[in-house]
Amino acid sequence: MARLAPRALCYGKVAGKAVLITGCDKGFGHALAHHLHARGFTVFAGCLMKDRGGDGARQLERVGSERLHVLQLDVCSEEEVAKALRLVRENLKEPEQVLWGLVNNAGMSAFGNVEFTSMDKFKEVADVNLWGTVRVTKAFLPLIRRAQGRVVNMASVLGRTASPLRSSYCISKFGVEAFTDCLRKEMYRWGVSVVAIEPSNFIPATGILTPEGVEAEAEQMWHGASEALRADYGETHFQQETERIRAFVRSGLGDLSLVLKDITDALTARYPYARYNPMEAHSWMQLQAATHLPSALADWL
Ligand SMILES: NC(=O)c1ccc[n+]([C@@H]2O[C@H](COP(=O)([O-])OP(=O)(O)OC[C@H]3O[C@@H](n4cnc5c(N)ncnc54)[C@H](OP(=O)(O)O)[C@@H]3O)[C@@H](O)[C@H]2O)c1
Repeated sequence: MARLAPRALCYGKVAGKAVLITGCDKGFGHALAHHLHARGFTVFAGCLMKDRGGDGARQLERVGSERLHVLQLDVCSEEEVAKALRLVRENLKEPEQVLWGLVNNAGMSAFGNVEFTSMDKFKEVADVNLWGTVRVTKAFLPLIRRAQGRVVNMASVLGRTASPLRSSYCISKFGVEAFTDCLRKEMYRWGVSVVAIEPSNFIPATGILTPEGVEAEAEQMWHGASEALRADYGETHFQQETERIRAFVRSGLGDLSLVLKDITDALTARYPYARYNPMEAHSWMQLQAATHLPSALADWL
């Protein structure tokens, strides 16, 4: 949505502001690190694979800028989060430079019927998407509070509306939404804005689900299930459901710019929105229907 007042009244300055982004090896995080660096921010780009020579981390390092720091960061590791905090502190030249923003972007996806999804998978997805977000936020919040800055959490449209075959992912993203709402209310008195970004399907533009990944996961789920479960569901039905996921992976937006624009607005607008919905008009209509209509009617639609 366009703001009507002059730009300088609507947006704050970027100079002297640093942002930490998690999950910068690829996808939204990688593109955002380049984008915010180009906008003049100092960027701390957390990469899962930096110490293992990951391509994404190496590519960011090749930029060779004093304002772009690439750091090893597994959001599931207390030790790596503590190390990243030390590194950020050492590199900030306070009071001229503050940690203004934290973008909790790191995430993973998964699919499958509840009965085919193992407890380990439920826990793994929540560990990265939800507990990773909570862990990193708790560690960096003192710095963000001091700057009266921003926490931006990558939620999802699947954090607002539940979908069959996506229970492990939806649970984690509904949790991210709840965490964001609670923290936003707690942070009013500190002058910190806490924002949820709720993209629809941008899978063709990122690497979160790939056709090969879907095949491997489906294969593992089918062969990992008990004989009784396979007999109850039947292979034809299982394949039809996998086909819905294949079609979902093939569809979606192939251009990240809507997401980058909304995250940038969340970090720079003087009065950012509580939630942003980067998505096409039809997904937005579906979201409104799912969140405003009685559940029975929304399910039927
Ligand atoms: N793409 C979409 O359509 C979409 C829609 C709504 C919301 N989102 C959300 O947007 C965020 C980014 O997704 P994306 O589509 O850009 O996915 P992506 O391309 O897979 O990027 C996610 C990044 O997070 C990293 N990561 C995974 N586990 C991590 C961990 N434990 N610690 C640190 N980093 C970790 C991944 O590293 P590896 O590559 O090494 O695994 C990858 O670099 C996620 O939170 C996702 O749920 C995506």
